Amino acid sequence: MKKILLTGALGQIGSELTAKLRSVYGSDNVIATDIRETDSHVVHNGPFEKLDVTDAEKMFDIAKKNNVDTIIHLAALLSATAEKKPLLAWNLNMGGLVNALETARELDCQFFTPSSIGAFGPSTPKNSTPQDTIMRPTTMYGVNKVSGELLSDYYFQKFGVDTRGLRFPGLISYETMPGGGTTDYAVEIYYEAIKNNAYTSYIGEGTHMDMMYMPDALQAIIDLMEADPSKLDHRNSFNVSAMSIAPEDAAAAIRVHQPDFKLDYDVDPVRQAIAESWPDAIDSSAAKAEWGFKANFDLAKMTADMLDKLKTK
Ligand code: SER
Repeated sequence: MKKILLTGALGQIGSELTAKLRSVYGSDNVIATDIRETDSHVVHNGPFEKLDVTDAEKMFDIAKKNNVDTIIHLAALLSATAEKKPLLAWNLNMGGLVNALETARELDCQFFTPSSIGAFGPSTPKNSTPQDTIMRPTTMYGVNKVSGELLSDYYFQKFGVDTRGLRFPGLISYETMPGGGTTDYAVEIYYEAIKNNAYTSYIGEGTHMDMMYMPDALQAIIDLMEADPSKLDHRNSFNVSAMSIAPEDAAAAIRVHQPDFKLDYDVDPVRQAIAESWPDAIDSSAAKAEWGFKANFDLAKMTADMLDKLKTK
């Protein structure tokens, strides 16, 4: 990774990954793109271009003009939005991905795109979900993610594009809110804890999903991209998780700092059904064995940091 193009750079992962990559690889070497242009450090602190990822020609031109050797493709609709607008999700998630892979193929770039726990479905083993297992998702987002994993592997096998990916769990962060995901409650609960000392969860009690704190997710992307390719048996995509939690677990962790924090429930049937179709806890051992994946934040440590950072914010 020397000269990196990011799509979706103003999103939840992109905004923090852009800053991190600029600090590691140099500001001029990270070209951020997004469909919007906002008043953000992503736009002001280094090269930025407006890009709709369904515009193949413009994506190719930006990559070529900047001599990039790496493409990190993040632009996508998340699970709950994709369920509301399935055709848009297919066109954007798959159309954007194929454009990004084609650009990587033509310009000989290394390639990263995130997959998700959403790539799994109700027939997948719920606990210690293996790296290689049944993948029959029942959401449009999941269909996109499995197709994306297969397509990325295809580009590696057929064309030799150095594609790599991670099956991210819900990502928790304090800089940019996620939008339209099923795991978003686990971010909102911290914002509401600071604002109102109370949260109403749209995900039901006892519903476990995997989560990870953003600093661990960013480091995992860099570590995977820098990993020795001869050590990688898998490519698209590796299971990675730091914790498996239900809403009441996050609430209990918050109560260590705010004993009166109140949690109640108003379950959204659409997002609850998506959550129930996903695993409870995935097994990250392939990522650990093949490229040394490690998460530094567990629930307690993440909660202390989130509350601290949000208070300042
Ligand atoms: N956070 C994502 C979502 O909920 C999962 O990949 O859609």
